Amino acid sequence: MQLKRPFRGGLKKAFGVICALLVVYLLVHSVGLISSDFPTMVTDQKYVVGDDKKIYEYNRQMPLIFIGGVPRSGTTLMRAMLDAHPDIRCGQETRVIPRLLQMRFHWLKSEKESMRLNQAGITKSVLDSAIAAFTLEIIAKHGEPAPRLCNKDPLTIKMGTYVIDLFPNAKFIFMVRDGRATAHSIISRKVTITGFDLTDYRQCLKKWNSAVEAMNSQCRELGPDRCLRVPYEQLVLHPKKWMEKVLEFLDIPWSDSVLHHEDFINNGIELSKVERSSDQVIKPVNLEALSKWVGNIPEDVIKDMAHIAPMLSVLGYDPYANPPNYGQPDAEVAHKTKEIQRNKNVWERKAKEMFDVGWDNADGDTALDKEPSDNPNNIT
Ligand code: A3P
Repeated sequence: MQLKRPFRGGLKKAFGVICALLVVYLLVHSVGLISSDFPTMVTDQKYVVGDDKKIYEYNRQMPLIFIGGVPRSGTTLMRAMLDAHPDIRCGQETRVIPRLLQMRFHWLKSEKESMRLNQAGITKSVLDSAIAAFTLEIIAKHGEPAPRLCNKDPLTIKMGTYVIDLFPNAKFIFMVRDGRATAHSIISRKVTITGFDLTDYRQCLKKWNSAVEAMNSQCRELGPDRCLRVPYEQLVLHPKKWMEKVLEFLDIPWSDSVLHHEDFINNGIELSKVERSSDQVIKPVNLEALSKWVGNIPEDVIKDMAHIAPMLSVLGYDPYANPPNYGQPDAEVAHKTKEIQRNKNVWERKAKEMFDVGWDNADGDTALDKEPSDNPNNIT
């Protein structure tokens, strides 16, 4: 029987479609085989196995915690308090994460360089996934695994909105402190931070002002669901109230251990021998550092304070009060502070035993100053 021409044409088309579907099926199938041979090339999900033999997965969607702020604002204390929580691991400063993020900004600052990278196939998404993978590997593997991972490299918050592009469910704890106390801490302890002149209070306060302003604007842009500002003074005066706020913000159940971080030093909280806050953070939360700056800032700087550091008022500090009234401490904090002062020699000995290093060269920042863009403490 002769088929009609349109019907013959229809059969041909159907045959063609079936062949095409077959080819697509075989292709998909063979790619599937290839990818199962090389799972690490395609999988986004990674894992580490803990001492408890549990598997801890990590990926870009996880709710990472980033603690930031101008150095000497209580960032190490916050990380120690969070580290004491059984579900959280922060660990020591990684130093390489803010450096990498800063490098990315330098690469893309020049229009010409951006164009060249793009032409070489290093598009924004290629770069972002590479930077996210590096950051995640460092965070996940530089310490013990835990259900919630946290990072404390103080300056990372300067690039907070970019970090959220990489890790959309991350949250920031932004530590702020009276700039006069921060400047006094930097100068009196000789903490090298690129851009800060350790002989000049006026200059240090100006630097503090511009750094905290940039961080505060990142925090505002991130919004209250992503960034929580924690004043150091209020944290040490009322640790329970503030840690409740912090854990609620992070969606983490309450644990009393965050109020006794000192019990977990070297037993869940690993401190660096070279970070400049280690010998202070071994102590319980105390009030010793609140007003140490009073009487140490030159009179002409005190007079111009509101003009030199307008961020003081923005953050709720009275620029003309010397000292300001930060508030009354909880009874337990006042008691622990008295105990620390009574046992001053014991604490000094303990710190010496644990961190017997020459601070002048301890954190290597001095050498790094020669290359400002590569300094993890490069605040500019
Ligand atoms: P001072 O240098 O004024 O003493 P960061 O870790 O961000 O660099 O902050 C350092 C400041 O946090 C130090 O300020 C230090 O005293 C304070 N700090 C560290 N541990 C503390 C604790 N247990 N209680 C109160 N403040 C603490």
